[in-house]
Amino acid sequence: MCARSRMDRRSMAARSPLTLLLSLAVAAAGVLQVRGQRAPSIEGFITIDCGLPEHSSYVNNRTKIPITSDAGFTDAGYNRNISAEYVRPQPQLSKNYLNVRSFPDSVRSCYTLPSLVPGSKYLLRALFMYGNYDGLDKLPVFDLYLGVNFWWRVNISRAEGSILAEVIAVIPDDSVQVCLVNIGLGTPFISELDLRPLENTLYRQANATQGLVLIDRRNMGDTGNYPIRYPEDPYDRAWLPWSNPKFWLDISTKEKVQENIGSLRLHAPSAVLQTAVTALNDSESKTVKLSWKTELDHVDRMLGCVAILYFAELQILAGNAVREFNTIVDGGPNHPYRPEYLVGDALYNGNPHECLSRYNITMVATANSTLPPTINAFEYFSVISTANVGTDLRDVSAINAIKVKYQMKRNWMGDPCAPKSFVWDGLTCSYVLSGRPRITSINMSSGGLKGDISSYFGDLKGIQSLDLSYNKLTGSIPNVLAQLPSLVLLDLTGNQLNGSIPSGLLKKSQDGTLTLRYNKNPNLCINKNSCQPTKRENNSKIVVYIIVSIVVVAVIGALVVLLILIVRKKKGSTKSSKRQDCQHLDNHRFTYNELETITDNFKIVLGQGGFGTVYDGFLQDGTQVAVKLRSQSSSQDVREFLTEAQTITQIHHKNLVSLVGYCKDGIYLALVYEHMSEGNLEDKLRGRNHSDVSLTWRQRLCIAQQSAQGLEYLHKSCSPPFVHRDVKTSNILLNKNLEAKVADFGLMKAFNNDDDTHISTARVIGTRGYLAPEYALALQLNEKSDVYSFGVVLLEVITGQPTILESTEVIHIVQWARLHLSGGNIEEVVDARMQGDFNVNGMWKAMDLALKCTEHDPAQRPTMTDVAVQLQYCLELESKDQTRGNANNNFHMMEDSSRDRDLPMM
Ligand SMILES: *[C@@H]1O[C@H](CO)[C@@H](O)[C@H](O)[C@H]1NC(C)=O
Ligand SMILES: *[C@@H]1O[C@H](CO)[C@@H](O)[C@H](O)[C@H]1NC(C)=O
Ligand SMILES: *[C@@H]1O[C@H](CO)[C@@H](O)[C@H](O)[C@H]1NC(C)=O
Ligand SMILES: *[C@@H]1O[C@H](CO)[C@@H](O)[C@H](O)[C@H]1NC(C)=O
Ligand SMILES: *[C@@H]1O[C@H](CO)[C@@H](O)[C@H](O)[C@H]1NC(C)=O
Ligand SMILES: *[C@@H]1O[C@H](CO)[C@@H](O)[C@H](O)[C@H]1NC(C)=O
Ligand SMILES: *[C@@H]1O[C@H](CO)[C@@H](O)[C@H](O)[C@H]1NC(C)=O
Ligand SMILES: *[C@@H]1O[C@H](CO)[C@@H](O)[C@H](O)[C@H]1NC(C)=O
Repeated sequence: MCARSRMDRRSMAARSPLTLLLSLAVAAAGVLQVRGQRAPSIEGFITIDCGLPEHSSYVNNRTKIPITSDAGFTDAGYNRNISAEYVRPQPQLSKNYLNVRSFPDSVRSCYTLPSLVPGSKYLLRALFMYGNYDGLDKLPVFDLYLGVNFWWRVNISRAEGSILAEVIAVIPDDSVQVCLVNIGLGTPFISELDLRPLENTLYRQANATQGLVLIDRRNMGDTGNYPIRYPEDPYDRAWLPWSNPKFWLDISTKEKVQENIGSLRLHAPSAVLQTAVTALNDSESKTVKLSWKTELDHVDRMLGCVAILYFAELQILAGNAVREFNTIVDGGPNHPYRPEYLVGDALYNGNPHECLSRYNITMVATANSTLPPTINAFEYFSVISTANVGTDLRDVSAINAIKVKYQMKRNWMGDPCAPKSFVWDGLTCSYVLSGRPRITSINMSSGGLKGDISSYFGDLKGIQSLDLSYNKLTGSIPNVLAQLPSLVLLDLTGNQLNGSIPSGLLKKSQDGTLTLRYNKNPNLCINKNSCQPTKRENNSKIVVYIIVSIVVVAVIGALVVLLILIVRKKKGSTKSSKRQDCQHLDNHRFTYNELETITDNFKIVLGQGGFGTVYDGFLQDGTQVAVKLRSQSSSQDVREFLTEAQTITQIHHKNLVSLVGYCKDGIYLALVYEHMSEGNLEDKLRGRNHSDVSLTWRQRLCIAQQSAQGLEYLHKSCSPPFVHRDVKTSNILLNKNLEAKVADFGLMKAFNNDDDTHISTARVIGTRGYLAPEYALALQLNEKSDVYSFGVVLLEVITGQPTILESTEVIHIVQWARLHLSGGNIEEVVDARMQGDFNVNGMWKAMDLALKCTEHDPAQRPTMTDVAVQLQYCLELESKDQTRGNANNNFHMMEDSSRDRDLPMM
């Protein structure tokens, strides 16, 4: 009981007793027939002697398993022999320890084990013996990863000692990487690497998201010098012998021990179960105690530990003899258990318990027992998470092909994106909660790349930015690059490319979805006309070309001038029919004096914007207006001002703030808008005035839906379409009926602006917290950037939180929401000021929509049309919800619904 007091504070799981597997039936005869008759299959075994010269192989002296060289499993590291002073003849030192592979060059170095069955369970084992192979006499410490998940810390404590790391895990893909990671405490190396297929029914605790790392596996009562392995154990687990005549009496049988067919099939080999230990026969206590140091320095103990104990009765019990005992592991007593004659069974803890640095297993005979307890074998594991997943498989195979083609070294090893801290140099990846990371940008600028542009770049479908500038790339630009759906930046500057630019790329560049850079490629044809012959022509030909060119240019020039004149004349009164929707001028121009009158000498300030101060005012007919006067310090120049004025006067929609007029009078610039008496959405959500009544969910949905309609109009109904560029809650204004109108088009710019070949803008305009990643990253802008910003607005509407949350750490609202939603509880993130008064389905739908809008990949985001439709649907859900009293009341106050909700349940 003394142990108890120290465990008081441990979790319940720590005290959970071992689960007893009941003997359900006697083993089917077939289970054991295999053993001893013919060796079980070694199909699927991979056994690598690391550092063995290429093309060499041999057979393990005891298991007869063939062992191969590691060439072909890794392209990193160097073969080394251990120092002569550590070499011993077999069998004192088995051959696999004579050489190692060491990895001095990079932080992470990996082996790839191929030809696996995806989703199947495997045992992986790595062995390490230093043997002063590098002559430095320095014992290294480094980390071992199973794919992208931490497995084991290899802490070499003696040069001649061998360390074994083993993990049982479900492998998701058709190959798995084992990676050695340099943690700054010496060069990683490895002696042997094994992989063994397991049946999926074995070790139920190992599943898709967690694996079992071996701490100890012992065969009790075995007095041999070597572990029992293959072929006795068909899975080639190594059962280390443990016997100590000072503590225990060894017992054994020559009879085969069958395995109970219980729910947990462990397939402990008969050879292991045929030996056991029991109490010394002079001992009165009838207790067997095992206690050992677990050396947990190697493992991550976060997820706890699992013990599996194996029992079988090996003696024929005479008459009324009884062997019955309780097994006490970590303090918890268990049901009395009687092992069955020659039938193996196992006890294990169903939930992992705390990992202890000293582990005690005590078996105590019950009062009715005439015989002392026995134990035949045990295994002890620490649980690791295997929940991290590797990069999208298509991305992986494409980037690996690219790596091979350009012989990329750097740290291009292991998974390209995961774990985050090991992302390959030059790569950027996107990470989502459920799903694999994707490669979103590649920067191989100045990387000395030779040869043509790999068509594998075309397989990286998530890529947004590709920088291949300043290399020695030759050949033509592959057409597949034009098919990359999310590509917004392609930089080919400073190469030796030739041929012409694929029309698909040119088109994207022209309609502004792609920034294309191709300067300093002397042989590249920029367009058909300027295509230069690659070889020098003789002078006379050049003269001819020049003359012809001049004539052609002159003729074209004359035609153009003529055309412009014709068009100008026609334009006098009419516009091209396509644009008429958005471009009719009916605004009013004010003088500065008029503005003074309207605003009563700029008396009441409504707010402050990037453009200038906004004043309250009244027109002569009594209409209330807001006058936005340019401040002297404003960075916005006159051209931008006029752009805004012209743009806004051309656009009319019930959900866009309309312009009453403008003023350009000497040095004064001003815009006169309709007045929005309820201010902006930001103030409404996080009001300066805390006594403000909170908006209801229905009001919020209406505002969101109306704003979405306004933006949709900008994107879809105008020709050319417009990107707002600065969608945010403070730019959504509310009138006295709480109807929303989107304001501030000052930053808006036409998509197909004639003097703008692509939509890359000179500098970031917009507001921190709302900028779409591609815009912040590459100054790329399109309608989907507005969708992103709108998604942020929607998150604010739902959560009431600001875009940047600053508590213990600074976190963006998108991350914050995704983080908190991973638990599946939406109430956690919904603005508490709504008092829980909302339709949960509609809320989820809105939340899903907000998350879709804020996807990293612009292609994954919906259009504003989709958004408006979905929000309309949310509104319908909210209106139809009959179960909540006042939900249909647009203006119900929070007092109405809050009180009864606060009552305790009766
Ligand atoms: C196998 O072990 C025996 C001694 O146990 C040794 O004589 C023999 O050389 C070993 N075989 C190989 C191939 O190393
Ligand atoms: C290791 O030793 C073997 C012979 O024992 C030799 O053939 C091989 O070249 C050595 N390798 C290195 C890297 O020194
Ligand atoms: C390695 O093991 C030694 C003890 O054997 C310990 O003192 C040391 O802290 C360990 N190093 C690391 C990095 O865990
Ligand atoms: C794996 O097992 C753990 C513990 O039993 C459980 O929490 C987890 O959900 C399981 N994972 C899968 C993918 O079944
Ligand atoms: C005790 O064990 C020894 C062997 O260890 C054996 O010779 C002896 O018969 C045993 N005594 C009893 C009473 O079982
Ligand atoms: C385990 O046993 C050792 C001695 O055998 C004892 O000192 C230690 O307190 C025990 N630990 C637990 C957790 O019971
Ligand atoms: C011990 O034996 C007595 C009588 O034989 C029986 O009543 C009791 O249930 C037994 N206890 C256990 C734990 O089996
Ligand atoms: C790529 O890297 C170079 C230098 O490391 C840098 O100058 C360039 O801006 C990067 N390209 C992109 C698209 O970020």
